[in-house]
Amino acid sequence: MKDVFILSIETSCDETSIAIVKNGCEVIALTILTQMDTHSDFGGVVPEIASRMHTENITMVLEETLKKAKMEVSDCDAIAVTYTPGLLGSLLVGVEFAKVLSYVYDLPLIKVNHLIGHIYANKIDNKLHFPTLALVISGGHTELIKMTDDYEFELLGETLDDAIGEAFDKVARVIGLKYPGGPNIEKLAKEGENSYKLPKMANDDTYNFSYSGLKSSVINLVNNERQRGNEINKADLACSFQMAAVEELTRKLEKALKETDIKNVIIAGGVSANKYIRSEVQKLCDKYDAELSLPEFIYCTDNAAMIGAAAYPLYLKKEFADLDLNAKSTSNIC
Ligand code: KG4
Ligand code: ZN
Repeated sequence: MKDVFILSIETSCDETSIAIVKNGCEVIALTILTQMDTHSDFGGVVPEIASRMHTENITMVLEETLKKAKMEVSDCDAIAVTYTPGLLGSLLVGVEFAKVLSYVYDLPLIKVNHLIGHIYANKIDNKLHFPTLALVISGGHTELIKMTDDYEFELLGETLDDAIGEAFDKVARVIGLKYPGGPNIEKLAKEGENSYKLPKMANDDTYNFSYSGLKSSVINLVNNERQRGNEINKADLACSFQMAAVEELTRKLEKALKETDIKNVIIAGGVSANKYIRSEVQKLCDKYDAELSLPEFIYCTDNAAMIGAAAYPLYLKKEFADLDLNAKSTSNIC
């Protein structure tokens, strides 16, 4: 079969990224322009600034990617773009840009769900084995999904309140760490011990997660200690929080491993870059004789290569989008 080159675009949050992906698994070129430093000054992503920066930079990111690949847009077979979920203004920049390329170069347009993109990051330089349990952990989502084949998803559980990444970011902010908080909590946690007693999450009989109780208990603890004039051991608090947050993940994943007897596990999304989470999930998989697939670090956080990987099965099925495609801020995988 002829090789398929997909030019893929990702602008759902604060990364402007374009990639060229061959046959859904080989990254020919990838450019990621992060706006993190700009948003860091505000303690989080400012949507208006994010969309303006995407508009300013997207042409340059395309040129850079084509230069790295030594290819032209016309050498590609399709244009793929993240259309949901994310910040509406940011998504729109990518969607409109993709539509223009699709029209001008007469290439099919493929719409990709960002969360499915995170899952397919596991297919880059790798294979997916089905059935598999997929734990999608990002700034906006915490979902446990059963996948029986390409694009065959069954939602087992999701967060009832905050996403795990959101909890990492809020806890980081309250202890004075910069945005994005996740990597900074991970770094600080290495220097600390699990000395703070944080409440256990309700042990219900579902696969759902909950993070707001844990987040609030950390915020209350910090406020109470400050009012009393006591010093907080930030490293210990980061460590205690990270352990409690990960325990919630592994508890539900263990329940699924036990009850479904599925022997493949994928973790996906920005939070899957966390080495402590990776090692705890690995231990659990070892215990249940399950095989764990982890995306390479560069493909954990937002990037366009994963969008090209997720677009490939849709290209094979000829599931193309029309030029009236619109962005959608919220949606789930299934
Ligand atoms: O997938 P992603 O790049 O964007 C969304 O789709 O949300 O995930 C971003 C989230 C942020 O909350 C960030 O703090 C978190 O992923 N994150 C981490 C780590 N690296 C990124 N959380 C914990 N540990 C990390 N090493
Ligand atoms: Zn993401």
